[in-house]
Amino acid sequence: MKQLHKQSSVNHRRDEEIPTSQSPPYSPKTLKHPRSLPRSINYLFKEQRLLFILVGILIGSTFFIVQPSLSRLGPAETRSTIPGSVTNGVTSRDQISIPYPQRNGAGKVGRIPVGIGRKRLRIVVTGGAGFVGSHLVDKLIARGDDVIVIDNFFTGRKENVMHHFGNPRFELIRHDVVEPILLEVDQIYHLACPASPVHYKYNPVKTIKTNVMGTLNMLGLAKRIGARFLLTSTSEVYGDPLEHPQKETYWGNVNPIGVRSCYDEGKRTAETLTMDYHRGADVEVRIARIFNTYGPRMCIDDGRVVSNFVAQAIRKQPLTVYGDGKQTRSFQYVSDLVDGLVALMEGEHVGPFNLGNPGEFTMLELAEVVKETIDSSATIEFKPNTADDPHKRKPDISRAKEMLNWEPKISLREGLPLMVSDFQNRILNEDEGKGQK
Ligand SMILES: NC(=O)c1ccc[n+]([C@@H]2O[C@H](COP(=O)([O-])OP(=O)(O)OC[C@H]3O[C@@H](n4cnc5c(N)ncnc54)[C@H](O)[C@@H]3O)[C@@H](O)[C@H]2O)c1
Repeated sequence: MKQLHKQSSVNHRRDEEIPTSQSPPYSPKTLKHPRSLPRSINYLFKEQRLLFILVGILIGSTFFIVQPSLSRLGPAETRSTIPGSVTNGVTSRDQISIPYPQRNGAGKVGRIPVGIGRKRLRIVVTGGAGFVGSHLVDKLIARGDDVIVIDNFFTGRKENVMHHFGNPRFELIRHDVVEPILLEVDQIYHLACPASPVHYKYNPVKTIKTNVMGTLNMLGLAKRIGARFLLTSTSEVYGDPLEHPQKETYWGNVNPIGVRSCYDEGKRTAETLTMDYHRGADVEVRIARIFNTYGPRMCIDDGRVVSNFVAQAIRKQPLTVYGDGKQTRSFQYVSDLVDGLVALMEGEHVGPFNLGNPGEFTMLELAEVVKETIDSSATIEFKPNTADDPHKRKPDISRAKEMLNWEPKISLREGLPLMVSDFQNRILNEDEGKGQK
């Protein structure tokens, strides 16, 4: 206590001493320096402060002049403005405005302020873990868009998209399109459907359900959120064609009660639904009729002729040719198809558009190319043809060339080697896996 008392008395003394010995007496009004006015002007001129102020005023007034002309862009020109959607489980509230050209107003797009590029889109790809879908996802992600894949993994594989895991712009949802789903996106690429005969014949009722109910659900979603919808239809809608090559105006020759009709008629109904939503509900739609496509990530044993031949040649098995091998097909490399799908989605035309490579090969010619590429000693084994197998298939792509400015670039001889190493790796892993059991 004594010490404390001592200290406080010392402090007290100090407090008393400060005003008298060091500081001037307290005065509520500070005396103005006689040169304060010229000093503030000096301050403005020093270090180019005035210049900065003038530049600020200039930028501000430019913004207010430009801003009204931007706000005049009505919904017609900035079509899709979607507040908040879920990407990788995180809800983002930033808005996306896409200057889409209007259906009838060719090329009318809003004025984009200098320095602001294309805004990124939110895109759903149904069937995105499958062969074509996964390549489409690669392109959309590389372009800078946000992609949500919906897949039930019937024929798709996580391995096809796992190189995007961890990318915040990528999301994978296990979901069957036969059930409705609610998402907020700008575009829907609807691919979900088994594409090879082995798979679509496995459960034909499910195949037609996927085509009808799955397409209805995705069209309903497109209508609700104002998204643009693209259907991947097929050359199978032409059935066993009586017109060659097939133009989009040809209505087809399909057996409605055959073993393939779950797929053929399913896709024809999907096209009908797509057009009815377009005409009746004003949904922006696009229809692609895809011809035989090949490339890395195809299912290995899916019964499609290219994957069959390539897998058989790698496994040193005879190449199976059904019938006399004179039936023809055209073969398109997957990157050409993906370019065509994107051109169609971004363009102004509904379609339908044939997307395929018009180069026509008989099955025997294809077998020869596979032998040249993989194993010249491979042999050919003939088997009876399957039911309803079309005799000829070759797209007329003049409409896509003219209206989408698209045509395939990769020939069969260039494309085939690109899928061989992928197949070799997967077949090797398969064999190694078997050895470990
Ligand atoms: N590849 C071709 O040569 C070709 C030719 C014509 C048309 N197409 C069409 O292109 C699309 C993609 O074909 P692909 O070759 O990539 O086939 P794919 O079988 O590799 O891919 C289809 C994807 O859809 C998924 N899927 C199937 N049913 C589903 C459902 N009910 N719900 C959710 N997902 C489902 C599968 O798991 C798979 O990932 C299909 O619509 C197909 O009809 C492809």
